[in-house]
Amino acid sequence: MNIQKIAIGCDHGGFAYKDAIIEFLTNQNIEVYDFGTDSGDSVDYPDFVHPVAEHVESENVDLGIVLCGSGNGAAMTANKHQGIRAGLCWTEELAALARQHNNANILSIPARFVSKEVALSMVATFIATDFEGGRHERRVGKMSCM
Ligand code: RB5
Repeated sequence: MNIQKIAIGCDHGGFAYKDAIIEFLTNQNIEVYDFGTDSGDSVDYPDFVHPVAEHVESENVDLGIVLCGSGNGAAMTANKHQGIRAGLCWTEELAALARQHNNANILSIPARFVSKEVALSMVATFIATDFEGGRHERRVGKMSCM
């Protein structure tokens, strides 16, 4: 998958890593749509995750990245969108598997539980890894309740 556009959003729990991720992606010549938040002030993560999910779902961007303290609120919010498969990952291997096996289109990062280096390595792996299809295509096709 040739990644050209990525949407990113976080709450105050993920804000500390957002700029480093944007810098990394920009250096890869990827256009980044930044939906905030833009400070460490306390905010509500759904306000910053829904815009990312909407842009991924409507295919305005190729993939999304969301961050909050635990990664759970961000992932749960994103996964309310029918077309979203957000994977909560805390190692590079999990980020690869989320793409390979689950065709994840959003990476959720638990910023209070992984180092910035791990967060960046997960982003690098997530954007460089393709869905394997095959038996995984059948399983992903059975995820929807609609
Ligand atoms: C904010 O304190 C924290 O609750 C949030 O970042 C996230 O962990 C929620 O799931």
